[in-house]
Amino acid sequence: MQRENWLYGGLMNNIDILKNWIDESDNIVFFGGAGVSTESGIPDFRSVDGLYKQKYKYPPETIVSHTFLKQKPGEFFEFYKEKMVAPAINSKPNMAHEKLAQWEKEGKLKAVITQNIDGLHQAAGSENVLELHGTVHKNYCDRCYKQYKVSDVINADGIPKCECGGTIRPDVVLYEEGLDSDVMSKAINYISNADVLIIGGTSLVVYPAAGLIRYYRGNKLVLVNLSETSQDGFADLVIHEKIGEVFSRL
Ligand code: APR
Repeated sequence: MQRENWLYGGLMNNIDILKNWIDESDNIVFFGGAGVSTESGIPDFRSVDGLYKQKYKYPPETIVSHTFLKQKPGEFFEFYKEKMVAPAINSKPNMAHEKLAQWEKEGKLKAVITQNIDGLHQAAGSENVLELHGTVHKNYCDRCYKQYKVSDVINADGIPKCECGGTIRPDVVLYEEGLDSDVMSKAINYISNADVLIIGGTSLVVYPAAGLIRYYRGNKLVLVNLSETSQDGFADLVIHEKIGEVFSRL
């Protein structure tokens, strides 16, 4: 259902307004979540078919936590490899990722700030990507900190082990773990200086990531999200449609 706005003397729908704002800006910042990758075939977390709605021996949000990784590494890696790594490395960017990379190349978009760990923005060609929750593509030994590739994790039989005997873990922010302060301060800087802030494919329920959007000081806050969020009322433009489809029309 598209809210219709009167703008510039004529009836324009929200997509036309968004297109206008994008055409006129060279300082766009994007803040996204799992809903950006669902059109690539990666389920999100909280939609009806999301990862957290599926039934497991433990609640998924318990599994992807620091404590669970330490106490039940075998079960952690079984879930993590099957449900988070495999979908990420077997998926391709969709139109949402492509358009953001195009706008960056055109000098219109300054940064992609994402909660996703699938690396699809970089696969689409985006260069300035701030990964608030890390990425499946970076892994390290929890004892000697030797770096490892995602293939070393997904191809390991059971728990990935370093040659020093330590466990190879993903450079992903698990529940109970903190976000990288350098990434956070860069994200805050881009958002607080943005002309247009486009928020897409996120339920905005996980902090501190969701709190970042409060730093936006402009008057072109766009929300492109299939379902309603608690921030809809603060947005200057709300589009409840699939982000890949919306972006393909811009
Ligand atoms: N287009 C637009 N919106 C979509 C699409 C789509 N194609 N598909 C799904 N959505 C919307 C859903 O309606 C939902 O509101 O994207 C949102 C995804 O929300 P979540 O599943 O909660 O994902 P996200 O907001 O990224 O979760 C944040 O939670 O568990 C942690 O670390 C995990 O980064 C994740 C964080």
